[in-house]
Amino acid sequence: MKSCVPLLLVLLALAGIPSVSGADAQPADSAENPLRKTIELGRLLVEQTATHPLTRSYVGASLNCTSCHLDNGTHPTAATFLEVATAYPAWAAREETVVTLEDRVLNCFMRSCNGTRPPQGSLPAVAITTYITSLSEGLPMQMNEKSPHGPRRVKALAIDPAEADVASGKTLYTARCGSCHGEDGDGTGDGPPVWGPRSFNMGAGLSHVEHLAAWLKVAMPLHEADLTDAESLDIAAYVNSHDRPAFDIEEHLPAAEGLGVYNGKRGNEKSAGQDDHTAAE
Ligand code: HEC
Ligand code: HEC
Repeated sequence: MKSCVPLLLVLLALAGIPSVSGADAQPADSAENPLRKTIELGRLLVEQTATHPLTRSYVGASLNCTSCHLDNGTHPTAATFLEVATAYPAWAAREETVVTLEDRVLNCFMRSCNGTRPPQGSLPAVAITTYITSLSEGLPMQMNEKSPHGPRRVKALAIDPAEADVASGKTLYTARCGSCHGEDGDGTGDGPPVWGPRSFNMGAGLSHVEHLAAWLKVAMPLHEADLTDAESLDIAAYVNSHDRPAFDIEEHLPAAEGLGVYNGKRGNEKSAGQDDHTAAE
């Protein structure tokens, strides 16, 4: 009978009937579908990273992922998550290794969120990675030898950080940014802090003037991003002329025994008696 299964699936497909072939398969559009629920949890964690019980202990800044990945990463240009999953695994020069999308997610916790890297395979790691991957569903993927960035990454500007005018940046900041981010950059308005102890740290991409300028150009002022390249540069230089937390990677890694957890629930029963070395790994 077993040989009939493929034929049966073809017939079901031709008839337009979804093929639920095994006892573990889930209906695709059900709100109770565990995969869809995980995607939705990931979206929630991207939105409420600093306050959600699953992630808040890993976040040191008063920032959520969506603070920079606007609209939960669905904004088309401001550090979008759209199409990002197609670019992983990727070579990362900073880490001098090949990183997975999960690695990339976790590294943003310790740098941009000035927090601790959650363990690989932990629920927040899996949920956020699943959410970001869902935003590339159906797209062709590539092995990426260039850098850990999606095809729609923030465009670099033709600017020279050495030419920034910090005084002009201060005037522009007061006029265009201070009402939301506070004159002291501490987020006393509707926006999050942009410098000081509750901001991203010196390991974050935005701590580099040229990266902050490029992101500002497409993202800020919120809902009316209209800065010129020169204005973006001057404001970025002014914002980053202030102190923010230092970055010493040792302080942002979890305890050695928590670096990775096994991402599964049934492995022990299945491998019991087969692998003597499992416990030591
Ligand atoms: C302070 C701002 C900031 C915060 C907060 C932040 N990120 Fe990022 N993140 C960036 C920037 C900037 C980039 C580089 C984007 C680019 O070059 O297009 C980036 C890149 C990434 C990438 C790689 C994107 C790509 O194109 O491959 C991922 C994935 C990512 N961040 C996930 C997260 C997650 C998850 C969180 C929350 C835990 C987070 N980030 C928090 C600023 C931030
Ligand atoms: C209308 C209010 C508003 C204005 C004006 C505004 N921002 Fe923002 N900004 C926000 C909000 C809100 C966020 C977080 C987005 C979110 O959570 O959806 C943000 C995010 C940011 C971030 C990334 C998160 C962080 O705090 O590090 C930076 C950097 C930033 N803004 C800088 C600026 C600069 C510089 C200007 C002026 C050119 C500016 N903003 C103007 C509201 C504003």
